Amino acid sequence: MTVLAVSKLSKRYRRGGKPLAAVDDVSFEIGPAETLALAGPSGSGKSTIARLVLRLLEPDAGRIEFEGADFLSLSGATLRARRARLQMVFQDPLAAFNPRATVARVLDDPLRIHGIASRAERPRRIAALLERVGLDAGLAARAIHEISGGQRQRVAIARAIATQPSLIVLDEAVSALDVSVRGQILELLLDLQRQERISYLFISHDLGVIRAVAHRVVILDAGRVAESGEARAVIDNPQSTIGKALVAATPKLNRNTPP
Ligand SMILES: Nc1ncnc2c1ncn2[C@@H]1O[C@H](COP(=O)(O)OP(=O)(O)OP(=O)(O)O)[C@@H](O)[C@H]1O
Ligand SMILES: [Mg+2]
Repeated sequence: MTVLAVSKLSKRYRRGGKPLAAVDDVSFEIGPAETLALAGPSGSGKSTIARLVLRLLEPDAGRIEFEGADFLSLSGATLRARRARLQMVFQDPLAAFNPRATVARVLDDPLRIHGIASRAERPRRIAALLERVGLDAGLAARAIHEISGGQRQRVAIARAIATQPSLIVLDEAVSALDVSVRGQILELLLDLQRQERISYLFISHDLGVIRAVAHRVVILDAGRVAESGEARAVIDNPQSTIGKALVAATPKLNRNTPP
C-alpha cells in the first residue's frame, strides 16, 4: 500500500529568460507510517518537490497519487477533503502564521474550516492538541510571537495533526532549532508516527538528522535523483558523487543512533 506515489515529476522555472529544470523526472513512493527523506545540496529541488506535492505549484509533467487518487486532477470539495489528509510544517512558523494571532486561533482554523469540531467543542479539542504535542493548555491564549521557537514548532505540528493527516510534508522543520530542542521535536515526530501512523516527507540538508529519523532517503542533485535507498545504508555507504560529497561534508555523523 502506498500513501504517496510521485512519478516522473518535472518542474521548470524561467530564470533570465532561460528555462531551469528545478525538478527533473523525479519518482518516489511513501508507505504508511514511513518517513522518506529528501536530501541534496541547496538548490537541488527539495522545496520545489514539497510545493508540487502540496499543490502550491503545478508541475510541467508527472503524476502525484495520494491515498490512491490522482491528486493533480482533484478539484473543489474533493480536493479540499483530501487536502485535510496532507499537511505541512515549514522551517519558520513565524512566517507561516500571523505572529499576532493567538495559539488558540491558529489551532481553531483547521478545526473550523474542515468542520472537524463544533464551536462549543473546539476549546476542548485545542487543549487536547496542545497536550498531544507536549504544550501546556494555558499557552492557547498567548500570541504566536510571544512563544519560543520550539513551542512555535510544536504549535505548527499540532495544527498539522488537527485534521488527522496521513502524510505531513516537513521542509527543514527542525533546521532553525538549537540542538536540544531539535532532538525533542524529532522525538515528538517519531512518537506521533508510532501512535497515529503518520507518514512523513522529511526534507533536510542534515544527513545526521535524516539518518536518525528516516526509513529511506532520496538524494537529489540539480533536480534529478542521484541515488535512493534505505537511509542508513545510503548514508553509511553513498554511491553517487553528490552523496559522497554530502557525507564528507557532515563531520559528526553518529552511526550509533537508532532510527
Ligand atoms: N520561484 C522561483 N523562480 C525561479 N527559480 C526558482 C524559484 N524557486 C526556486 N527556484 C530555483 O529552482 C532550483 C531549486 O530550488 P529549491 O528551492 O527547490 O531548492 P532546495 O533544494 O529546496 O534548496 P535549499 O536547500 O536552499 O532550500 C534552484 O535553482 C532555485 O534557484
Ligand atoms: Mg528548500
